[in-house]
Amino acid sequence: MQTQEVAWQSPSNIAIIKYWGKHGVQLPRNPSLSFTLSAAHTQTKLVAEPKEDTGGGISLDFYFEGQANALFSDKIKRFLSSIYAEYLPFLPNYHLTIHSQNSFPHSAGIASSASSMSALALALCQLEQKLEGQEVRDTEFYQKASVLSRLGSGSASRSVYGGVVVWGQSALVEGSSDQWAVPMLDISPVFENYQDTILIVSAGEKPVSSRAGHALMNTNRFASERFRQAQENLAALLPVLKNGDLETFVKITEEEALTLHALMMTSDPSYLLLLPDTLAIIEKVRDFRKKQGIPLCFTLDAGPNVHLLYPKTDREIVMQFIKEELYPHTQAGQWLEDQVGEGPQEML
Ligand code: PMV
Repeated sequence: MQTQEVAWQSPSNIAIIKYWGKHGVQLPRNPSLSFTLSAAHTQTKLVAEPKEDTGGGISLDFYFEGQANALFSDKIKRFLSSIYAEYLPFLPNYHLTIHSQNSFPHSAGIASSASSMSALALALCQLEQKLEGQEVRDTEFYQKASVLSRLGSGSASRSVYGGVVVWGQSALVEGSSDQWAVPMLDISPVFENYQDTILIVSAGEKPVSSRAGHALMNTNRFASERFRQAQENLAALLPVLKNGDLETFVKITEEEALTLHALMMTSDPSYLLLLPDTLAIIEKVRDFRKKQGIPLCFTLDAGPNVHLLYPKTDREIVMQFIKEELYPHTQAGQWLEDQVGEGPQEML
C-alpha cells in the first residue's frame, strides 16, 4: 500500500428544471435539468496515506483555501462515514488529507455544494481505480461519481457532466435514473456557450437551508401539482434544447424559478428568500426583453441572487444593460460571469 494523490476540478451548475423535494436516500421527487457552468468551480486534491489502525473508520483532515477547517472536516467525515461501507470499503485503510478551493469568493452567497461534492466524488472514484490498478474514465466511472455526488448534495449529481444534464427518471430521457445524472446530446449550438451572469443581491447566509426547504415539500399542499408541472416542463423543454426555440426556453425557465420560490412561500411554515432587489431585477429584465426583443431571462437558486441567462451573441448589449440598470441592485457591485462549460477535469 502506497500513498496516492488525485485531484479534480469540477464546476457548479444552474438548474433550468428545478429539483425541489426528495425522498428515501437523496432521491428526487421529479426529474431536473441543468446547465453545467465553467468559471464557478471547485478544485479538490485528495491524498490517501495507508494507516496502521484500520478499525477506526474514516479519518481525515480538511483544508479549505489553505486553512484547516473543522466544520467542513466534520461534515465530510460524517458524509464519508455514511457511504463508505456500501461504496468505498477501502477508505478506512487510509488517512485522507483533502485540500479544496473555490474559484468564486466564499462570501458571495453562491452555493458551492454542487461543485465541491462533485469534485470530491470524482477524486474518490479515481482513488478507487488507482488502488485497483486500472484507470478508465468510462460510463461506469462517471455514473458512480454521479451517485456519490448525489449522496453528498442532490444537485451535485448533475455536475459530473458538461453541457446539459438530467437527473431523475423520465421516460423521455434514455438512461435517466433517480440514482445518477445523464448528459444530454444533440443540443442546439445556441446553448453550447449560453451565458450565465450571476448578480449577487445578498451574500449573506440563507435563513432557511436547502435541506430544510426540501423537507417542507413533504407537507406542501401544492407538492403533487408541482411534481406534475416539472414533468410537463421537462417534456416541453427537451425539444427546445434541440431546436433552439428561445421564446419557449425563456417561458419555462422563468416559470420554474418563480415556482421554486412560490413553493417556499406556500410551505408551512412559510418563508421568503427573495429580496426587494431580486424583484426589481426581475421586473427590469422582463421590461428589457420586451423593449429590446432579446431573449434575456432570469433563473433563481434557493436564494435571492439572480442568474441571467442569454445567448453569447447578445453579450455586449446585455452587459451594457447590467452595468447601467442592474448594477445598483447588487450587493457592493458583485457579479460573476459564467457560461455553459464542458464539465469536470482531472488535474494532476
Ligand atoms: O442540491 P441541493 O439539495 O442543495 O438542492 C438544490 C436545489 C436547487 O438548487 C434549488 C434546484 C436545483 O435543482 O439545483
